[in-house]
Amino acid sequence: MAVGIFDSGLGGLTVLDAAQKRLPDVDFLYYGDNARAPYGVRDAEDVYQLTKAAVHDMWDKGCDLVILACNTASAAALRRMQEGGLPQGKRVLGVFVPLIEALTERQWGDNSPPREVEVKHVALFATPATVASRAFQRELAFRAIGVDVEAQACGGVVDAIEDGDMILAEALVRSHVDALKRKMPHPQAAILGCTHYPLMEQTFQEALGPEVKVFSQGSLVADSLSDYLTRHPDMYGSGAGGFYTTGNPGRVSDRATQFLRREITFQAA
Ligand code: DGL
Repeated sequence: MAVGIFDSGLGGLTVLDAAQKRLPDVDFLYYGDNARAPYGVRDAEDVYQLTKAAVHDMWDKGCDLVILACNTASAAALRRMQEGGLPQGKRVLGVFVPLIEALTERQWGDNSPPREVEVKHVALFATPATVASRAFQRELAFRAIGVDVEAQACGGVVDAIEDGDMILAEALVRSHVDALKRKMPHPQAAILGCTHYPLMEQTFQEALGPEVKVFSQGSLVADSLSDYLTRHPDMYGSGAGGFYTTGNPGRVSDRATQFLRREITFQAA
């Protein structure tokens, strides 16, 4: 029995960690496409093909439900995969909707028409591919009206995190926040729209200032997954959990252990 969590690399570990804390009795199969990360600089077709191949591999390993814990993959591949038809009994879900439901103060799965919400000025930090897709704005428009979104493509941050260069990642975050503030001086809320960014959450919060509410995905996705599994108890899958990577298992295990501060052992996908 395992629920699948997919990311282009290490970022999805922030979602996995929150999901394991929220659902301690559920087994998870984590799959990082580290050999091909970052996805955020690839075009939509490329991200779709890579994501589709990885998700099929996870279904073959026994997962019935796969969470795309990668905004770039959610933006470029989720809708297309769902619309293209999924194999019998298999599901794939993304990470945008839980975040937007929290931002717009909706219950999980509330599909009522868009309405005015409290927050009016939102800063979105994401990869260049996620920003280019405008998937966040599209999903937001289904749920809220009158919200001004300013997006900042945070080039370089994912590479620095994947390389373990946190000093560079910090400097890049500060410069991306400065660039955002030049376009939107007083955001009320900031969305960390990439699963790697919670690893830099403190730097984002410091650079934005204490008056900005920072939304990061881990616990929001974990809560919505818990709700989903309560409503769909047949989606726990049949395979065993574990950590898989298309990259170098030793190197990826070292980085993952460093990020989560507990021993993580990856095997080759
Ligand atoms: N962590 C992924 C995301 O949430 C993608 C990062 C990347 O591979 O560029 O967008």
